[in-house]
Amino acid sequence: MDAMISPSTPGKFKPEKPHHHLHHHHHRPLFRLQHSPLFKCGLIVVCASVVVVLLLCLAPSHPSSSSSSSSSPFAASRIERRSLSASSSSSWGGAEWEKRVRYSARIRRVGGFSVLVTGAGGFVGTHVSAALKRRGDGVLGLDCFNDYYEPSLKRARQALLDRIGVFVVEGDINDGPLLRKLFDVVPFTHVMHLAAQAGVRYAMKNPASYVHSNIAGLVTLLEACKSADPQPAVVWASSSSVYGLNTKVPFSEFHRTDRPASLYAATKKAGEEIAHTYNHIYGLSITGLRFFTVYGPWGRPDMAYFFFTNDLLNGKPITIFEGPKGESVARDFTYIDDIVQGCIGALDTAKKSTGTGGKKRGPAQLRVYNLGNTSPVPVTELVTILERLLKVKANKKVVKMPANGDVQFTHANISLAQRELGYHPTTDLKTGLKRFVRWYIEYYNPPGVASLTKKSARSNSS
Ligand SMILES: NC(=O)c1ccc[n+]([C@@H]2O[C@H](COP(=O)([O-])OP(=O)(O)OC[C@H]3O[C@@H](n4cnc5c(N)ncnc54)[C@H](O)[C@@H]3O)[C@@H](O)[C@H]2O)c1
Repeated sequence: MDAMISPSTPGKFKPEKPHHHLHHHHHRPLFRLQHSPLFKCGLIVVCASVVVVLLLCLAPSHPSSSSSSSSSPFAASRIERRSLSASSSSSWGGAEWEKRVRYSARIRRVGGFSVLVTGAGGFVGTHVSAALKRRGDGVLGLDCFNDYYEPSLKRARQALLDRIGVFVVEGDINDGPLLRKLFDVVPFTHVMHLAAQAGVRYAMKNPASYVHSNIAGLVTLLEACKSADPQPAVVWASSSSVYGLNTKVPFSEFHRTDRPASLYAATKKAGEEIAHTYNHIYGLSITGLRFFTVYGPWGRPDMAYFFFTNDLLNGKPITIFEGPKGESVARDFTYIDDIVQGCIGALDTAKKSTGTGGKKRGPAQLRVYNLGNTSPVPVTELVTILERLLKVKANKKVVKMPANGDVQFTHANISLAQRELGYHPTTDLKTGLKRFVRWYIEYYNPPGVASLTKKSARSNSS
């Protein structure tokens, strides 16, 4: 409840002085003043000004038929809109819109699911939505299309999903009325929650965006899920970053996760605790998936493999980090198709939620799994593979890794996911990067490298 009334802008909230302090020093003069007509007039003017200022602050920053910003109980939603702008054309409701929602979520196989995929305009969300649709599940996407990275890429993914019959509703997961409407229109069996503020380093620039999407947004979504009838089973993306300063490798679900190295990691860890609460109180079936550095076609431009490719093709120098003693930085790179297989495995094995009418009727499933590739690759090797694929020599600058939230090493133990989700990653980094580079060149069509596409297409089919 406190969170609802306290402004969440870092540094803005100033605690009031203790009451006894106020009483001792100001009680008498205040009492005298209260009875003067001048004071009463002044009070009315001050109150009126405060109301006007509050109304101005609470007004949505852009028109929308949804009531997203004003309806959210979380102050962070306003902060977000000032710093990371979402698309201004969001609108929802009406008979035609409802028809599209229903059509997109319609199940087309026996025993199929109807899945609400949040973050469907994102990298993982697009691939998961497409895979579910292909096998006959009903899929409805939700995304706010913010400009954390190029919105045109998110729009291109949306167009791709549109072509295969997946409607991506434009809206924020903090928009409670929108979520309730979606659950009114469709009795979703599952929610695949992938919407989030991703990226480790950006958290130092815009911390509020992480609170907005990864904490406030998650709570708003789980509130809608717990009240929905039937309650859906929820599968959501946590992150390998929750292992933080853990040095035991490979990272296992049984290791400590209480030492996050970034605010991003801290919000994902908080998400895991919030998931526990909603499972415990409301009987929601919840599965958290800790993804390890996902890469592939339609990927995220803020990730190293992506911007290295861009820089290499533009002849720009690339910066490679190393540890304080010259140790190489390594990542357990996981190919997108393997992650999709893990997500679907989690959906397929998710048990039903046990609550109805917002009340728990029995214990419900609560799970956490690592989805990685079990083979960490030094970032220097990633660059070597890209050099070969792009046929360019990198101009490398090796610098010590700054203390900005990144960890030196990630390595997943995936035995739990193998056993319980049937998760079996099959794509090595070389194969996956070849597919990524082919997509990159087709999508961006950089001048002078068209020939690479043909070569990589030939080598892929051989
Ligand atoms: N890609 C990785 O390597 C990786 C690793 C670990 C965890 N994850 C997690 O996996 C999930 C998917 O990641 P991704 O790589 O596809 O990221 P992404 O940024 O491409 O996708 C996230 C999508 O969520 C949307 N979004 C953000 N805030 C929203 C909000 N408040 N309301 C509605 N939509 C919102 C964004 O517009 C974006 O399209 C995220 O939860 C991320 O934290 C990703």
